Amino acid sequence: MNPRTTSAESVRLFDADDPLVTESGSSLLEVTVAFEQFGEMNKDGTNVIVICHALTANAHAGGTDEGPGWWEGVVGPGKAFDTRTYAVICSNILGSCYGTTGPRSLDPRTGKEYRMEFPLISVRDMVRVQKKLLDLLGVKSLVTVCGSSLGGMQVLEWGVMYPDFCRSIVPISTAARQTAWCIALNGVARRAITADPLWKCGGYDAQPAEGLSLARMVGMISYRSWEEFEQRFGRTRMGQNGRERESMFAVESYLQHQGKKLVDRFDACTYVLLSRAMDLHDVAEQRGTVQEVLGSIRAKTLCIGFSSDNRYPPANQKEIARYVPDASYSEISSIHGHDGFLTDQEPLNRLIHQFLNESGVA
Ligand code: COA
Repeated sequence: MNPRTTSAESVRLFDADDPLVTESGSSLLEVTVAFEQFGEMNKDGTNVIVICHALTANAHAGGTDEGPGWWEGVVGPGKAFDTRTYAVICSNILGSCYGTTGPRSLDPRTGKEYRMEFPLISVRDMVRVQKKLLDLLGVKSLVTVCGSSLGGMQVLEWGVMYPDFCRSIVPISTAARQTAWCIALNGVARRAITADPLWKCGGYDAQPAEGLSLARMVGMISYRSWEEFEQRFGRTRMGQNGRERESMFAVESYLQHQGKKLVDRFDACTYVLLSRAMDLHDVAEQRGTVQEVLGSIRAKTLCIGFSSDNRYPPANQKEIARYVPDASYSEISSIHGHDGFLTDQEPLNRLIHQFLNESGVA
């Protein structure tokens, strides 16, 4: 694994005197968080936007001298998250492997990496850690919190857990509670990893590359759409000089390429842990019904869905918009499926820009 290095700053948020007690009741004696800030915070700490990232991403949402950001069509001068006006903060989530404490960090009690001894964490734990970071930075209220997929789950928790702190929220391509469909997909991905002989209950020396790659391949099929694969790859083969019939289909080769790329930049224990946190996500758990809990959100809310998302289809976004009191729903027509939030940044940028201007939260 070679996580992409970013210009993220690191800050220790919890230590032995003030450990993070997770929702599952475990204590993390040291929690360090890596974050990036794009744009300057005003003296009142009220011009801040938080971006919550998805499963395998990192804090580098905006472009910098260090390289392009994964959401630079939305973050930057003149973009919806205009860095001339706002301070945009994105932190690497709890349990990840891009600078924040996770399974590959050292457990201070043993001096060894946690690996699968890392406690079961929840989306709520991730959000509590983010809030502590913002308190430390002097943030007093948020213009908006925005994110897609696992990021969107965090956005919903922000709205529920800190209703007076967020003036608006923008959940994208997510669900109020993880669906059976997504649990099934994540379950297969985890099984691919844990069935790899190199896995060794998380104690691997070299990554279980075959398993992690397969997990990504399954994921990628669900991140894209039937229409896109048909248009992009069809029945094309990779072979040349009359040897096409014996060769791999282009779509197989594409998935293998994506699998290898993830093995090179992400960690297998981290994948297992974070996908499990996604599956445990349920805004209603121990709070009431989904309707009641979403009904408690006071932030102005823009729910965004992508027409061909078969992981978190528009129906999931419409459910959120139906129950959150001050919410609207917008749909982007796209063939790129769940990955639309990464591939279709222009229409996404336009929608968010309009929402921030017209909702009076800026
Ligand atoms: N065989 C092998 N490789 C192929 C190929 C084929 N038939 N067809 C395309 N590729 C490779 C290209 O060479 C290129 O490789 P590179 O990225 O190493 O340069 C890559 O595939 C381009 O395709 P893709 O990555 O699909 O480009 P895109 O612009 O459509 O999508 C991203 C960009 C960032 C969205 C996509 O790469 C990605 O990472 N998707 C997953 C993101 C994710 O985690 N989503 C879930 C969030 S919960």
